[in-house]
Amino acid sequence: MDRVTAAVRAFYEAYPYPPGNRPDCDAYHGRLLLSYIERPKGMPKQLQLLEAGCGRGINLAAAAALQPQDQFTGIDINRVAIDEASANTRNKALSNLNFHLADLLDPASLPGVSRGYDVILSYGVIHHLSDPLKGLQQLTQQLAPHGVMSLMVDGRYGRQPLDRFLQALQIVSADGGADTERESTARALARIAERGVFHGNCWQGTSSVDEVEFADRCLHVHEQSYDIESLWQLLDRVGLKFIRWHESDDWSVAHISDDLELFEPLQALEPSVAYQVIERLTYRPKLSLVVARKEDRPRLPLTEEQLLSNRLCLSPQLKQITDEAGHRQWRRRGRKLSIDVQDLAHRLLMAASEIGSGFTGSQLLQQLTGESISPQQGVDSLRQLYALECLYAPHETDGTQS
Ligand SMILES: C[S@@+](CC[C@H](N)C(=O)[O-])C[C@H]1O[C@@H](n2cnc3c(N)ncnc32)[C@H](O)[C@@H]1O
Repeated sequence: MDRVTAAVRAFYEAYPYPPGNRPDCDAYHGRLLLSYIERPKGMPKQLQLLEAGCGRGINLAAAAALQPQDQFTGIDINRVAIDEASANTRNKALSNLNFHLADLLDPASLPGVSRGYDVILSYGVIHHLSDPLKGLQQLTQQLAPHGVMSLMVDGRYGRQPLDRFLQALQIVSADGGADTERESTARALARIAERGVFHGNCWQGTSSVDEVEFADRCLHVHEQSYDIESLWQLLDRVGLKFIRWHESDDWSVAHISDDLELFEPLQALEPSVAYQVIERLTYRPKLSLVVARKEDRPRLPLTEEQLLSNRLCLSPQLKQITDEAGHRQWRRRGRKLSIDVQDLAHRLLMAASEIGSGFTGSQLLQQLTGESISPQQGVDSLRQLYALECLYAPHETDGTQS
């Protein structure tokens, strides 16, 4: 193991990530992730999912409990985190989940599966590797031919306020000192930064986050960040390509500007070039995306005919909540959707929640038989729900066993 990897391991063993016990597994759904590319050949009944750098495994455990039909594997270099994750799995008696101590940079330590993993997840890990290219190469080798990878790396431009803070910390504590001293200096500087470089952006509040989160942001021993260009180059070198962002709206010209004069020239740019403009104009601290092999293609939007006849599912990322004023709201990945309880789309979502598992668009519309809605209104509402990603179309499996 190289010196940097050993230091990263020691850091995470002191501060096992993620902090707390509230899982966030919205980005861990295998069938949803695979639905983002055109139908892969040989898609098996039981998916194999790998999380590379799973830390304490709380997100993976939550995902495994929600998707009992699929098999989940978590790996990490951190023995403390893997021991905790394995003990929790035993306590919860989750038979579709296992954890292994492994180094992403050491192929011999990785638990492979014979036909490759259908889905590989890796959030907040690649940018801590001493050799990110090698790490991503190893993961690509573990990916099934039809598989997808879901990644998150730090974004260079969005991190600039934090990088300025880290430079200040480096100047103040360049002569080393005890870890506790460094942490209290960092907290004190972060309190100043709250009124300065952290003000009004995603780093606001850093001075008061818990110990583990604070260490991850402010005391890390090795990290690098990416911009669109360098990330695209890294993907290209390992034979992968961009499929989509997790939060497409954050990267859509239409969502960042309503200036019609700007809209057309921006819209005319190559998508990756438009993303370079957006990353410079906005704070995007994380680049969170789905990638696949170069030969795979992003899924085309469903036609009207397919919306009515294909099997659809409710997005696992969709939640209905009641706000403080007692109003019901639909949210996807924590963001409020523009669906009012008076809308037909709302009633369709309620009907879909009652059906539960898959349904066709036609079957869903039939649930509202008592209502006088035209076929066009029905299709328009289905299209709205599909565009808002409340509904997705999972690929049918080939029945291949894992
Ligand atoms: C920021 S944490 C992310 C944990 C988890 N993915 C999450 O999102 O909560 C980074 C994790 O990557 C792990 N890691 C770093 N280098 C690694 C390596 N070479 N091999 C395996 N895991 C590694 C660390 O131990 C740590 O648990």
